[in-house]
Amino acid sequence: MSLLEIKNLCTYFEAEAGQVKAVDGVSLSIDKGEVVAIVGGSGSGKTVLALSILRLVPEPGRIVSGEILFGGADLVKMPIKELRDVRGRKISMIFQEPMTCLNPVFTVGDQIVEALEVHEPAITQKMATSRAAELLNMVGIADGSKRLRSYPHELSGGQRQRVMIAMALACSPDILIADEPTTALDVTVQAQILDLLNKLHEDIGMTTILITHDFGIVAQNADRVYVMHEGRIAESGAVEDIFARPKDEYTKKLLAAVPVL
Ligand SMILES: Nc1ncnc2c1ncn2[C@@H]1O[C@H](COP(=O)(O)OP(=O)(O)OP(=O)(O)O)[C@@H](O)[C@H]1O
Ligand SMILES: [Mg+2]
Repeated sequence: MSLLEIKNLCTYFEAEAGQVKAVDGVSLSIDKGEVVAIVGGSGSGKTVLALSILRLVPEPGRIVSGEILFGGADLVKMPIKELRDVRGRKISMIFQEPMTCLNPVFTVGDQIVEALEVHEPAITQKMATSRAAELLNMVGIADGSKRLRSYPHELSGGQRQRVMIAMALACSPDILIADEPTTALDVTVQAQILDLLNKLHEDIGMTTILITHDFGIVAQNADRVYVMHEGRIAESGAVEDIFARPKDEYTKKLLAAVPVL
């Protein structure tokens, strides 16, 4: 059985100008330990799909139909109280622009400790602090215990993204959703963050949904890929197969944009 299975999901926005079918009948599945990529151009519905999984789609967006099966339950129908337990603790998400997700007035230590406390209310301050430092070391921020006292603006873009990943990992989630974790960063940092995600996959078998517009990133990081176009899955399969024999015209176009590896 898949860890997560999405069946025929539709998420629409009711705008004044008309209905936007951001996600229009998407089905996909991910097994434990897999890295699955969702690749597609800007506006293809990747972020809305990811937000739908956690039921965080902003108004006027709405899941209109479909199922999101996780651990035997349908997240679409789950009461909000139970859903809170899934968000962060079981399924964590890192967003496109890390600065907007970190609170500028608190140190990164405060924020990681808070993430730990939310999900483990019984944890002592001392335990939480040492776990926070461990998490920073785990995501490649040297001298974690000292870095806990830094404010977000004192860190580089790459370090902030690492802090976001540390926060996402704070509760040892079953699934990590990384939405274009690298677009806001320069190429070297981008490579380091992807290496980090790969390392987490190798070290702790992190099940990851990697969202990107870049087929080059898919090739180096994912086992399977879903190509998304205008709210639908244009094509899906093992990364090697899609690279070797793309069937869909849109996939061919995306692949043509990748420099020869
Ligand atoms: N708050 C909103 N209100 C109305 N329409 C929205 C809203 N958010 C997203 N959409 C629409 O949903 C569609 C999918 O957007 P989405 O952000 O999921 O694309 P994306 O694939 O993540 O693009 P990108 O690669 O640029 O991040 C787009 O047509 C977008 O305009
Ligand atoms: Mg997006």
